[in-house]
Amino acid sequence: MYQSDFSNADRPPASWRDYLVPQDWARFTAEEHRVWDTLFTRQVPYLGNRIVAPFLAGIPALGLDEPGIPELGRLNARLQPETGWGLASVAGIVPDAAFFAMLAERRFPIGNFIRGADNLDYLTEPDCFHDIFGHVPMLAHPPVARLMQALGRLGVAAIAAGHGEIIARLYWHTVEFGLAREAGEVKILGAGLASSFGEAHVALEADLSRPRFTLPAAANTPYRNDVFQPLYFVSDSLEGTAAALESLDLAGLSALAR
Ligand SMILES: [Fe+2]
Repeated sequence: MYQSDFSNADRPPASWRDYLVPQDWARFTAEEHRVWDTLFTRQVPYLGNRIVAPFLAGIPALGLDEPGIPELGRLNARLQPETGWGLASVAGIVPDAAFFAMLAERRFPIGNFIRGADNLDYLTEPDCFHDIFGHVPMLAHPPVARLMQALGRLGVAAIAAGHGEIIARLYWHTVEFGLAREAGEVKILGAGLASSFGEAHVALEADLSRPRFTLPAAANTPYRNDVFQPLYFVSDSLEGTAAALESLDLAGLSALAR
């Protein structure tokens, strides 16, 4: 999920469980599994070591290097013992209040569809390649596991307090489209970059702005969900940003709003 625009923020929140659907893994066709394999075998060498180390460690640890679209039951059996996170199948974008409520309970939504073979680089909404390949390896890393839950709890409170846009920006500029320093080098951090063929290199190499991530700067910088980002925030470290977000409460978040 990475297309939040808070158009749903004023609606009464439904239980996130209302959005769950069976993955029905057996319904995926051979061609759909081939699309996954094509995307996976293209993306791993494309990313190389330009992405933070916990991401690269998470892929074999969770068996994501096995062929075909992962079956969520098998994937959960590997992920849950690591960090307590679980994956739940959804039909499409989950409204923001329900999305953050899921995160607060260490549940991450996975779109139960995959892009077509003739449209490998165009997404109208996040599919299972984005949701699984982009997000799930990081959920096996304890600092990110804690960070994502903290964002969920804070998100629920922020939306209720009318600050949904602030939490969306903090989410976007870190776990979705953020960069982070690691051993002195700028690396990909966000799932939207990790799963994109094209934007990952743009984010690292194009002539554009890469401001240092701070809570006030990110909280006050809008993002785009329809084109490549105009800028990418660079965290001093994944662990440092995770700790800063974990310790942020609603009062602190509200104070960030200009
Ligand atoms: Fe996402």
